[in-house]
Amino acid sequence: MSRSTKLAIDGGLPTVANGPPVWPVPDEEVLLALQSVYQLGDWGRYHGEFSTKLSHQLALMHGTEHVVLCSSGTLAVELALRGLKVGPGDEVILAGYDFSGNFRAIEAVGAFPVLVDINATDCCLSLHAIAEGMSTRCRAIIVSHLHGGLAAMKAIRALADDRGCFIVEDACQAQGATVEGKIAGSWGDVGVLSFGGSKLLTAGRGGALLIQRHDVYQRVKVYCERGNHAFPLSELQAAVLLPQLAKLQSRNRARKASVDWLRNQLAEFEFLRPLQNGARECEPAYFKLGWSYEDTALNGRTRTEFLAAIQAEGVAMGGGFQGFVKRPASRCRRMGDMPASRRAAETTVLLHHPVLLKPVNELQLVVDAIAKIGNAWST
Ligand SMILES: Cc1ncc(COP(=O)(O)O)c(C=O)c1O
Repeated sequence: MSRSTKLAIDGGLPTVANGPPVWPVPDEEVLLALQSVYQLGDWGRYHGEFSTKLSHQLALMHGTEHVVLCSSGTLAVELALRGLKVGPGDEVILAGYDFSGNFRAIEAVGAFPVLVDINATDCCLSLHAIAEGMSTRCRAIIVSHLHGGLAAMKAIRALADDRGCFIVEDACQAQGATVEGKIAGSWGDVGVLSFGGSKLLTAGRGGALLIQRHDVYQRVKVYCERGNHAFPLSELQAAVLLPQLAKLQSRNRARKASVDWLRNQLAEFEFLRPLQNGARECEPAYFKLGWSYEDTALNGRTRTEFLAAIQAEGVAMGGGFQGFVKRPASRCRRMGDMPASRRAAETTVLLHHPVLLKPVNELQLVVDAIAKIGNAWST
């Protein structure tokens, strides 16, 4: 059996063919789910058999008492803060490098963001920086797992408990990952998932809150109630998520095998410094695979130039988040210069996940493209 065939079978993939990596992948079971929701006549509804089943399965998988399905991960973070009664007068700790919507979610509930630095190695919140940023007004910490990195949840949880702070754990980029022995999303008082179009589990749009406490669940539900469920995930969306959920772990394993292979092949290229996962006992999930781009190793050729060149080779690579280091003091409290967040915003490059489910000959094309640029620019 060839290496490429083996990767495909290990991943439990429906069809793995050569050709551009697409997402979502063609999946007969998703098609059947769509047909079945159509036949049941339920596809116009917000609640029903499929959303109930999805909520139940997500609760089981994450060991949480309650699940609220909603219209996006962005909104789920805001709802989480509302459910935890975070509001005016409260501070919320956020990484200086994170998804921009998380900053807006804090502002949307009337609280004040406190920006703290990340680890230079994994793009996740630094425990030390969180501890430094905490004041008596701090009510919550938003902890995101980014670019295949996983935050050190055991220690962050212990710190939050010690200081009486809540955690909103943003697992939008880490569905199905295990962090220090527990699934991502289950460490927070509220965990958050995204089912956006590009995500590992996709319904085109959508999100979920994984909630531990009944009163928090009740508040989220009351907030969503406007004479109707105002921010729903529909039955149609829930139906397509169920078969994907069943395949998540095998696909995560296939993606991880590809990442290990790619990292090995790319080890010699000093201009791409892989992000390293700092947390122990982890099984990462790769929505994006991240590197820090070191322009000095390529005679000063900029990240923008590199991304243009690699995209011209047909590789789905892009830059990371802009981060918040330039946000004015009127909108947040910043803990120092946040050098790691600044650097992450300037140097992160990300490979989008669909190629990670492709056979090894297609992964080789990514390696070849990177090598081509590296060899041409390093001389
Ligand atoms: C870390 C993180 N949080 C939240 C979100 C928002 O999810 P959505 O696109 O479903 O609103 C994203 C989206 O990329 C994300 O990467």
